Amino acid sequence: MEVVSAVSVTPPERLSSGITELDRVLGGGLVPGGVALIGGQPGIGKSTLLLQAGGLVASTGTPVLYMSGEESSAQVALRAKRLGVASENLLLYCGSDLEDALLALKTGLNTDSKTDAKNIGLFILDSVQAVRAPGETGWPGTPNQVRAVAQLAVDAARAAQIPAVLVGHITKDGRLAGPMLLEHMVDTVLTFSGEGYSSYRMLRAVKNRYGNTDELGVFEMREDGLAAVEDKSGLYWNRSDVAVPGVAMTIALEGSTPLVAEVQTLATPTAFPYPKRTSRGIELNRFQLLAAVLEKRAGILCSAHDLYLNIAGGLSIQDPSADLASCVSLASALRDRPLRGDCCYLGEVGLAGEVRPVTRLGSRLKEAERLGLRCAVVSAGERGVSAPGGIKIERVDNLGEALKKGGL
Ligand code: TYD
Ligand code: MG
Repeated sequence: MEVVSAVSVTPPERLSSGITELDRVLGGGLVPGGVALIGGQPGIGKSTLLLQAGGLVASTGTPVLYMSGEESSAQVALRAKRLGVASENLLLYCGSDLEDALLALKTGLNTDSKTDAKNIGLFILDSVQAVRAPGETGWPGTPNQVRAVAQLAVDAARAAQIPAVLVGHITKDGRLAGPMLLEHMVDTVLTFSGEGYSSYRMLRAVKNRYGNTDELGVFEMREDGLAAVEDKSGLYWNRSDVAVPGVAMTIALEGSTPLVAEVQTLATPTAFPYPKRTSRGIELNRFQLLAAVLEKRAGILCSAHDLYLNIAGGLSIQDPSADLASCVSLASALRDRPLRGDCCYLGEVGLAGEVRPVTRLGSRLKEAERLGLRCAVVSAGERGVSAPGGIKIERVDNLGEALKKGGL
């Protein structure tokens, strides 16, 4: 037994992956002895991201072992060259036998007879589904194999006190393929995702023993590999000067990252007995409820129109702070009158038409200011908010007042 206050809690030394966005999502970099698992759909860019990171670490003089059970040395080397990260400290092992790689972690790797063995400082395993654990029967990728492979990699990383990053495939429904246990065996689980048609990729931590899980990393897949996207809000905002009816801005939270979101609604007179409602980026049930509240509490007739709502840029918003922007956007579409383009709407809308406060208003407003917005319509119930200099705060109690502030 130990007394909590007497346990030494010096923060772990971190190894930078060379990619700031990746370091941030990891909670400040890779941790020696720590194992991260990165999951994502095939073709999303897991191998690219890790080869880039491995190459950058190697370029600082730390030998990196990149083991691929999926691609040949020629394929990986070609990619490393294309990414501009081929160096003498980036060591490849292409094959499916994990034993050889684990031995190299333990004893170091001899790349030629004249120099000493290189002590590996980072191990990348691509992927846990493609390699075979010594002594374990069954094809690679079967639950037993995956569990054994992950456990061996975890043990080896701990013993050698070096960081390891494992690639994991995910199934169609978005879960890591293999045993459920996999996520419990490692210290950090990251997901790498993106919409099929877009070149943007999101990196998030879903579990992190060494940091929080609120950070979002955004990359763009380019010809020469993945590039960090600094202006995340820029992804979702058109910045068009032409005011279009049905467009309202809000600032959503993705983890702790504020992102500007453009809610767009289109309303057309319905030709059906039941008007049609579709939504993308906001749950359909929520949208239907908001339309009902708008009709009942603010007197804006919705039932004669087909309504289509979309969050621009493919963003999907879970938190209710976009309610107000959705209602205002809907009213703007139905009235066919545009809103002023430099205003955002932040509030949850209740069934009585009341506008409620949102979480972390301060950081949302800061992002709004950074993007050049000039006004924010928020709930009158927001307390202790000091608005950033450039933003005028308009407080409202209910939907009707919010529509007035929006000039509708
Ligand atoms: P990859 O890293 O192989 O994906 P994963 O390991 O997750 O399966 O990335 C595959 C896709 O990325 C492939 O379709 C080509 C594209 N790509 C680029 O657009 N630019 C690049 O520099 C690289 C290396 C890949
Ligand atoms: Mg791959």
